[in-house]
Formats: sequence, structure tokens, C-alpha cells
Amino acid sequence: MDGVTLLSDYQPYPFEIEKVSMVFHLAPDATRVRSTLALTPRAGAADVHLDGEELRLVSIAIDGAPLAPEAYRVTETGLTIAAGALPAGPFELQTEVEIAPAKNTALEGLYMSNGMYCTQCEAEGFRKITFYPDRPDVMARFHVRIESDLPVLLSNGNPAAQGAGFAEWDDPWPKPAYLFALVAGDLRATSGTFTTASGRKVDLNIWVRPGDEARCDFALGALQRSMKWDEQAYGREYDLDLFNIVAVDDFNMGAMENKGLNIFNSKLVLASPETATDLDYERIEAVIAHEYFHNWTGNRITCRDWFQLCLKEGLTVYRDQSFTRDVRLGALKRIDDVASLRARQFREDAGPLAHPPRPSSYREINNFYTATVYEKGAEVVGMLATLLGGEGYRKALDLYFDRHDGQACTIEDWIKVFEDASGRDLSQFKLWYTQAGTPHLSVSERFENGTYTLDFEQVTAPTPGEPEKPPRHIPIAVGLLGPNGDEVVPTQVLEMTQGRQSFSFSGLAAKPVPSILRGFSAPVVLERDTTPAEQAFLLAHDTDPFNRWEAGRNLARDTLIAMAQGGAPAPDYIAAVGQMLGDATAMPAFRAACLRLPGEDEIASALAANGVVPDPDAIRAARRDLMKALAQTHEAALVAAYEAHAVPGPYSPDAGPAGQRALRLATLALLSTLDAGARAKALFSDATNMTESIGALGLLVAQGTGQAELDAFAARWASEPLVMDKWRSVQAMLSPPEAAVEVVTAIAESGAFEWKNPNRFRSLLGGFAANHAGFHRADGAGYALYADWLIKLDPLNPQTAARMSTAFETWRRYDATRQTHAQAALKRIAGAPGLSRDLSEMVGRLLE
Ligand code: TRP
Ligand code: ZN
Repeated sequence: MDGVTLLSDYQPYPFEIEKVSMVFHLAPDATRVRSTLALTPRAGAADVHLDGEELRLVSIAIDGAPLAPEAYRVTETGLTIAAGALPAGPFELQTEVEIAPAKNTALEGLYMSNGMYCTQCEAEGFRKITFYPDRPDVMARFHVRIESDLPVLLSNGNPAAQGAGFAEWDDPWPKPAYLFALVAGDLRATSGTFTTASGRKVDLNIWVRPGDEARCDFALGALQRSMKWDEQAYGREYDLDLFNIVAVDDFNMGAMENKGLNIFNSKLVLASPETATDLDYERIEAVIAHEYFHNWTGNRITCRDWFQLCLKEGLTVYRDQSFTRDVRLGALKRIDDVASLRARQFREDAGPLAHPPRPSSYREINNFYTATVYEKGAEVVGMLATLLGGEGYRKALDLYFDRHDGQACTIEDWIKVFEDASGRDLSQFKLWYTQAGTPHLSVSERFENGTYTLDFEQVTAPTPGEPEKPPRHIPIAVGLLGPNGDEVVPTQVLEMTQGRQSFSFSGLAAKPVPSILRGFSAPVVLERDTTPAEQAFLLAHDTDPFNRWEAGRNLARDTLIAMAQGGAPAPDYIAAVGQMLGDATAMPAFRAACLRLPGEDEIASALAANGVVPDPDAIRAARRDLMKALAQTHEAALVAAYEAHAVPGPYSPDAGPAGQRALRLATLALLSTLDAGARAKALFSDATNMTESIGALGLLVAQGTGQAELDAFAARWASEPLVMDKWRSVQAMLSPPEAAVEVVTAIAESGAFEWKNPNRFRSLLGGFAANHAGFHRADGAGYALYADWLIKLDPLNPQTAARMSTAFETWRRYDATRQTHAQAALKRIAGAPGLSRDLSEMVGRLLE
């Protein structure tokens, strides 16, 4: 097929690159890049093919001698030098190109953001900087000279020289081009140090624009905590004298792990109590950790090709999740991670964009930075850790670092490490990497003569291109509780490898209550005929905090499913919430998590899975009715909890106080259905931190009130774009669905909306896509508005436009009228003139 890259076509690059030297002469419209590549043929004669896009070639020479025009050929995608024009042995290839960073709106390659130069090379951005074999299995040492009058000039590695108008950098570690980075600008550092376990002192800097220095302390501390943790948990030390982080305002994603020079979206660095929420603080810490952990899992050991992306991303997400579990509240972190896996990855797996963690073909690799590659990739690593146990997992990782340091690897290499470290055969387990889809695991039970048996069956529905689904190897963590709530069988891991399989527990005095899939030991949908009474029992007694929460979640989901189809709130659920609310032994953060109802999209997905066409308005009404019923029944307890959990004293982002604020906001959300927003208004006006300020504002917006508060907020924060993103988000996401299209349109069309900046665009349009009943409005106005903006963004920034098109991935769930409108919107995008490869691949898959 045209323009498709296949895993099966992989060929090694025929040259080795001993060394790369680059000189950048920076200018907004005409930056000159001179590159010298020291090339050695691996075996025999071969053409040199270098990737290159949007480059103006100024000169080209081999070993100092200019190449004759007939010796090479330049196309839209690269440069080829015929084998016949090359010396027999090693040689140096020099090129000079001109590029225009100021005109680069795609934010890939070298671009400008608020007067500073910066780069983004993953996955294939380096080819927009110079001619080069832009593929991760070509690893080389880089020396970089930057010429510019700007005061701060940074690149990867260690500083080598600097003087008036220039700086030179030397990176001793061979790396693929996607890890290259360069930054130049008027920047200020917040600095610190870290001394590694072997006693080496590393200088740390967080670079930001003048004025933002006061908001960097938390990020610096997070970096130090991450460095320490990686030494303790994985035995991994940092390997340069310097670690730089730079915050950039225009950025397509969260952050990037460039060697020794991480570049971050500024919203994932800058934090102060007045401007950042508890969740922002938690994310900043997690992303700083994630990018730092890539230094070993991604940089020292990288990917052979982009099909292996989950080798670095799944593992690094698993590592950052483990870190956050260790430094914050472990059980709560697991609950949040699973909730987000279900909301994003299960949704992806159930629709037209489903793909395996390791796909086998793509048109645009940027479209595969997905929840499946990242979050499901992390779950698969977690299952390996469960199967091998803590010590076995550590032994396997030690072997991985020993065996593969400095290499570009595959999922096969990774699996082999686990097989060699454990002596186990993991060939069936490997299906988790190579097949798409979420297995459905159903279970029934028997109890005879003191023996309790669980009968499991696994079924995975077909996904695009994969009609057959052989059984997976599924680790199922199970514990059993006695009738009085005591645990009679502590957690053990059952290993299911067949389509149907039974497991027995003998010597039991009475029929136990099973707690299945503890800690969410596998990314599957568990189906079990159970009673509300049994779920309430687990919510009260399970020793596994994840399954305790899960029991409450099941109750809430089941009652919402019934209510969305005309039923009444389930009394068992209402009573269970009352019990949980009154359980003073449970952490506030846990109680907050239990009070939060499943989102509208999750209910729609559950209905669709049961073969019911979801009605977004009925779902929204059901959710609001249930909130009101809970508030009416438990008003006194909610008021008491709300008042008891005010946090006195100065703000701290720690998990303890953050959990108290979460519980307060969760109770306030319920109480707001009774008091017309009176308490939320009071909290808004008293708030001294952004968590409470934006939390209260969101509740008012959801009630269809709060205009005065919205205006006050805008007046106070007009000059803080990151804070105004929150102002746009709450309105787009929480405005009543009948008003949302108009609210979003008004904000979008006000002159103040800087839509070319991805954070601004996402705050408004991404917020709107999360307004379930607003986006899926029956007359199609939501789809049409969204399509208009994707069409407008695509020519400037295809990567972000394509990512955001996933809002449409569920369109086939809904009724015929909505489907007709969604399809029309998608076809309109598909027909837009000059549609990018990124967005055209996405729309093609969405319409298939
Ligand atoms: N590798 C980065 C991470 O996971 C993410 C990334 C990939 C990225 N492509 C990007 C970030 C483009 C910004 C822009 O941490
Ligand atoms: Zn990553």
C-alpha cells in the first residue's frame, strides 16, 4: 500500500556513523546548519540515503570535495548519493542547509516559541533540521556548535566551550537523532545539584522565561526525588555532569526526554499554589520522573524502529507510575491509573483505532503515541512484574541493562530477557504485545464440600484486521473473604492460559466471597453475576484497596446503567455510599475517589457494550439525578465531611492535604445539587489556591450559573495563559450541553483566543470533546464545530490536529441521526484541501 511502513520490511542501515559534528548559525528566517557525518560502510557498496524534508541544500561535499550534481539526487523526502560516487572505506559527508524556524508552525524540527529557539525531534523531526538517517537504530556521538547572540545556548551532553556569540556541546553517549535537542533564548535557571550513589555531583537546571523563576522549585525537587528513586528501585545512576530542563510555551505534547536536555511543555514545569492545582502538581512530578527515567529506558537502551515504541514508553510509564505509588498514596495512584486506562485505552481498543501495543504497520508514526502504546504498554510490563514477582522482575531488568546497554532493541529482545531471567516460556504472553483488543473475562463459582471453584472464560472480540483472537496468558490475583469479612485466603496469582479454566480452593468452612483481579492484575473487563449486597460487602471489607474501590464503582455503574434506561437509583448503592462516607478509618483521598461517579462517556461505553444505543442526554440526566439522590439521603454527613476537611495553614501539594481537598470538592459536587451553588460560591470567594478556586468555579458552571465568578477569574488571570486555559476548559467541558456549542464558539471567536498554541487549542476544543452530551448534541452542531477547528488547525499543526481527531473514535456507538452527523463531519475533514498525512490517516481509520 502506498505510503505505508511495515514492520516486516525492516532492514539495518548500511552505514555506521562514528561521529556527527554540527554547526548552527541561528536566524529566524534563515538558519544555516552545517553537518559533518563520519560514515563507515557496514558491508560492501551501498547508496547513501539520508532523510530530509523542507531543507534548502546549500552545499554538499565528501572528504572536502564538492559533489558533482549528477552524483546525488534530492527529493521531497531526502537525499541519495549513488554508491559509485563514494570512496571504498570510511569517509566524511558534509552538508549545509538553510531552514526557517520562525515559519515552523508544526512545532517539529527547529522552531521558535516566544522568541526562543527550540527543537522537537521525536519521532521524525530531525530530518527537518539536516539530511540524516533519521531512524532510531542509527546511533552516533554528537558535537554541536551554536552561533547566536542570545544569552543561553544549550544542546545535549556536557558543555565543551563557550564565548561571545557561541557555545559548543559534546555528548559522549551515542544516541539516535530523535534525542537531539537545541535551545537558545533569554532564559533564567533555577539550579540545584544531585550527588549520585557513586559520589558524582550533577548540576541541575530548570530553564524558564524571565518572570517564571519563582514557579520552578517544585519541578527541581521532583527531579531530585526521581534521580534518587531510580538509584534505589532500579540501580540506575545518571551519566552526565549536567541535567537541563527547559520549559516551552508552544509544545505538541507533554515533554521530551532529549539526552541531558529535556524539553517540557511549560504547564508541566511551572507551579505555584495560586496558579496550579493539586492534580497539576502530581502530573508535574510524574512527567519529570517519566522523562528522567527515559535516560535509561529509551536513551541508553533505545528502540530498533518505531514499531517498538512501547519498549521505551510502556516501560517508562510503568516506572513513573511505580515512582508515584512510592512517593504518594500507592493505592490511590493505582485507582487513578486504572480509571484513566479504562477511559482512554479501553475506549480506543473498542473502536476503529484499536491496535496492538506493538503495531505492525503505520502511515504516520506520530499517530501511534497512543493510550495503547503508553498505558496498555505499562500494564503489560506490570503483568510481567506480577508473574515474576518483585525479585524476579528486578533480576530481569538488571539483565536487560547489562545485555542491551547502548543498543537499539525490539520487543523480542525484551521478552527474551524475561525468559532467560526466569526460565519461563513467555511465547503466549507475547500476544499482549502483538494483538489488539481487551479480553473479557467472565467467571462463575461453585462451592461443594468445602471446596470453592472459580470457572473462568476469556473472550476477545475481533478488532480491525484481527478476526482471530487466541487465548491470552492472564495473571489473575485473587483473595477470598469469609462471611464475617475476614480474609480466609490471602492474595494469590492464578495464571490463566486457556480459553476456559477452573481454579479450586479447598478446606473452606463456608462459601467465601471472592475478590478477583486484585490491584487490577490484568487489563481485562471482568464480568461476573453478582449481587449489590455482595458488592457492598466488598466495598466495606475487601483488604485490597483497589477492589474495594472497584466494588463501589461497579455499584455506581450498574445503577447508572439502569437509570439511563428509566430505572430508579439502587437503594443498596445509596446505602453503601453512606457507610463509606462514615468510615473514618478510610483515607480522605480514598473516600473522595469513591464519591466520584463514573463519567458520562464511561456509562455510554458500558451501555454500548451491553448492546444498548446510548442516549447522551439520558445519561447526563441519570448522573445528575443520582448525585442529587445521594446528596438528599446523606446531606448531613456530606456537610459534616465538607466542614471537617478544610485544610488550615499554608498550601502544601502533598498527598495528605491534597486528599482532604479532593474529599471536600467531591462532597461539594453533591451538595451543589441541593444548595444552588451557595457553598461553591463561598468557596470560590475564599479560595487561596487554584485547586479550590477552579474546583468551585467548575461546579458553578455545571449548574449553569457562575457568570460573575467567571468574569472575576478572567479579570484576575488575564495575563496568565496557563491559568486562562483552565477558565476555557471548565466552560467547554462543564457548560450545560444545550449551551456548550455557543459558549465554545463565543470563546473561540473572541480575539483573545490564541488557537495556534496547542495548549490554548486543547483547553477549549479538548475540553469540549470531554463534554459528552454537548459534543454529541443530537443536531450535530458539536461535531460540526469540532470539525471546523480541526480543518483550520491541520495546515499549521497536523500532529495536534490528528491527535485531537480521536474525539470521534466512538461515533458508531450512537443513534442513526448522530451517526449521520458525525460521518458528515468526518467526510468534510477527509475532503479538506491539502489534508495532512497525519489527519488523513486518522480520518480514514475512523471512517473505515
Ligand atoms: N517521548 C515523549 C515522552 O513520552 C513524547 C513525545 C513523542 C513527544 N513525540 C513527541 C513530545 C512530540 C513532544 C512532541 O515522554
Ligand atoms: Zn515517554
